Amino acid sequence: MKKLNFNQLRKEFLDFYESKQHIRLKSYSLIPNKDKSLLLINAGMAPLKEYFMGTKKFSKNRATSSQKCIRTGDIDNVGKTHRHATFFEMLGNFSFGDYFKREAINWAWEFLTKVIELDPEKLSVTVYLDDDEAYEIWNKEIGLSEDKISRLGKEDNFWEIEEGPCGPCSEIMYDRGEEYEGDDRYLEIWNLVFTQFNKTSNGEYLPLDHPNIDTGMGLERLALIVENAANIFELDTFRPLLKAIEELSGKKYGESEKINESFRVIMDHSKAMSFLIYDGVIPSNEGRGYVLRRLIRRAYRHGKHLGINGHFLEKLIKIVMEIYSPEYPELLEDKDRVFKIVNREESKFQETIDQGLEILNNMLDQLELRQEKILSGIDAFKLYDTYGFPVDLTEEIAKERNIEIDRDGFSKEMEAQKEKSRSGKSFEGGWEDDKIEISGYQATKFIGYENIESNSKIIGIENSELKSISEGQKAIVILDITPFYGEGGGQIGDRGYLESENGILKVLDTKKTADNIYYHFVECETGEFNVGDEVVAKIDVNRRNSIVKNHSATHLLNKALKTVLGNHINQAGSLVTDERLRFDFTHFEAISEEDLSEIERLVNESIFSNYPVKIVETTLEKSQELGAIGLFEDKYKDIVRVVSMGDYSVELCGGTHVRNTSEVMMFKIISESGIAAGIRRIEAITGLSVYRYLNDLKMKEENISKLLKTQKDGIESKINSMIAEEKSLKEKIDQFKSLQENSLINEISSEIKEFEGLKLLVKKLKEVDSQSLKNISDKLQNNEKNLVVLLASVFSDKILFISSVSKNLIKNNIKAGDIVRSVAQATGGNGGGRPDFAQAGGKDINKLDEALSKVEEFVKEKFN
Ligand code: ALA
Repeated sequence: MKKLNFNQLRKEFLDFYESKQHIRLKSYSLIPNKDKSLLLINAGMAPLKEYFMGTKKFSKNRATSSQKCIRTGDIDNVGKTHRHATFFEMLGNFSFGDYFKREAINWAWEFLTKVIELDPEKLSVTVYLDDDEAYEIWNKEIGLSEDKISRLGKEDNFWEIEEGPCGPCSEIMYDRGEEYEGDDRYLEIWNLVFTQFNKTSNGEYLPLDHPNIDTGMGLERLALIVENAANIFELDTFRPLLKAIEELSGKKYGESEKINESFRVIMDHSKAMSFLIYDGVIPSNEGRGYVLRRLIRRAYRHGKHLGINGHFLEKLIKIVMEIYSPEYPELLEDKDRVFKIVNREESKFQETIDQGLEILNNMLDQLELRQEKILSGIDAFKLYDTYGFPVDLTEEIAKERNIEIDRDGFSKEMEAQKEKSRSGKSFEGGWEDDKIEISGYQATKFIGYENIESNSKIIGIENSELKSISEGQKAIVILDITPFYGEGGGQIGDRGYLESENGILKVLDTKKTADNIYYHFVECETGEFNVGDEVVAKIDVNRRNSIVKNHSATHLLNKALKTVLGNHINQAGSLVTDERLRFDFTHFEAISEEDLSEIERLVNESIFSNYPVKIVETTLEKSQELGAIGLFEDKYKDIVRVVSMGDYSVELCGGTHVRNTSEVMMFKIISESGIAAGIRRIEAITGLSVYRYLNDLKMKEENISKLLKTQKDGIESKINSMIAEEKSLKEKIDQFKSLQENSLINEISSEIKEFEGLKLLVKKLKEVDSQSLKNISDKLQNNEKNLVVLLASVFSDKILFISSVSKNLIKNNIKAGDIVRSVAQATGGNGGGRPDFAQAGGKDINKLDEALSKVEEFVKEKFN
């Protein structure tokens, strides 16, 4: 076997097929081009479908590549096994209606046995059941004996994906020798697909005009065989990555299976994220962005498992880029962009995880103590809603402790929350809104764009059989003419008064029907009103002034969002009230602090630019020529209303506005959040509300400075020193605890009893918490064999039990779970757990000594 490393193998492969007249392709991006059936490129042939179908052509009909691939189906297994990875490269040679089985098989054999010199004795193959042609080639031309060729069925030897070229295949396996077991011994290394069909989206197999060849060989796996490495994570080429993680964490790869798992996850995911981000994916809550987000967050979390503090992914990604630079020099050229995106996601997640993890661990501790196996939907939702802790992550962490989460319960909570936010704005006037049906009136003449007052006639009173209304009563009133704006286009309805010599009606809200009948929700303050009465209709002008400020600011915000974030921003909903504005729009990730302040600055800049606001009514076509954005709600009109603010913002809108942007006075964003996948929400205030907001902040600042007993400009440094002090106190406590643990260990190790080949420690302690118990047990087990530990701690008025059993004893049927269960039950509690480690709780302290005295017998019995 030739000694070739990972990068050299790739080159040998591509050189070899180039010498067989193949076009040498550079790996395509991980993001499929136009192929809607795929989230990410997952095989060498995936970007080449059009060439297999014959709708596109290269200058030659054969090609070779080493294609970047991502497969996420097994993401949960990454790290747990030697083989699983999300990111890998697939070596392949492709024939587009050119050569077929004979050449494909002969060249594959030549490459493996002549070029990289694998021992032919160790190779065997499979073919599809009735593929006699392939069988004959292997048998007669290559000379493989019959016992080295198996015929297998469709599950094994027919290769297909969702849609596109597919067909029977032949696989080459490598025997790594007796020291490996099962799947680890016979590794599949190369899959030769004889592509004869095109599978359609309805699952039909249509024969292709000409048969093709599509082969795929995992580069990592090939390297593993050539180096005879234990697994794909221990290849020479990736040592620097492994080393870097060792340095960052102070842990050694190989220390334990748990540690290895974290190393492998971090190694695999840092490769995957480097390439995903380079190829243009950014973390988000959907699709590819979500895959990336999960990878970054999982890697980060495993970093924490290993004890790495703070950000570390940038360092690893840089090493990944260096390792891959012979084939992908472009990665290093764009490293700063990739780092920026990873760092941003890491920071965001760091905040989330620090808080959430502590709370989740507490929840899980409680469950374990109560021996429950399910985390409630309410708890999972609380973590998600209050601490932004992703539910997938909650599930993953809970699983590590054998606890499931109630997914249905979680979904119910989520629905309830959505329901709450939908019905957030309700009218508290006593009218049941959805029961109101207003019809049989002429469309109301609305004069409220220019006027705040009108002389009107009551033409209808609803909700009252008497068609009249008197003091203390509520009703709905319809006028012939009105200055009251009826709720629409996100803007709330006007309030105000209807007055006459007979009395006063207070207008609490105004709405309108689809045919423009305006209706006023009124309460009679004094007097009596009848249909036909003349009234003076006056809107609440101050309130309206606040509303128009918020509405005009909404247009400026819409424009600023497009300017800063891009043209993909589209309005998805809006609410304009006198108090604030709320704007929902399409965007896939949280907006960064910098972007948010840039957006706010732009809006204020346009306010200070004194743009005159011009409103014209025109045809829809004309409005499009003016470049107006937005949708006009009123489908019954041919004429649309265009609101422009200088040349800066042009929008279709039926709402009321300021006359000049300067009237908005000032704009302040008060929140930014996600409300659904791909939809963000900004809430903001304008005018006097900003002034109140500033006053409020000032008060808060004063209160804080009083609480901290420091000048205002000393707040920050005071808080910093408090944080530092807290940290050092925590460290002292930890040190103290660990000293205490060590001295306890010294004390009790001498009490370990030995029988033939078995060591046993049963010990009662006082006021030692469960974490310390666990630490003590872990340290006792460190480097130990044959040791069974049972610790009991009387803590407050409860008993905590922890038991651990050296792994080698488990086969003797001694299980930590059984031991804690026996003592817990004897003291009125219950418990169980894993064979090597378990904890439980007991209640009756009086029965403790007796329970402990029986452990020795219990263990001995099992051991014999
Ligand atoms: N397209 C084939 C595979 O991915 C070669 O296995």
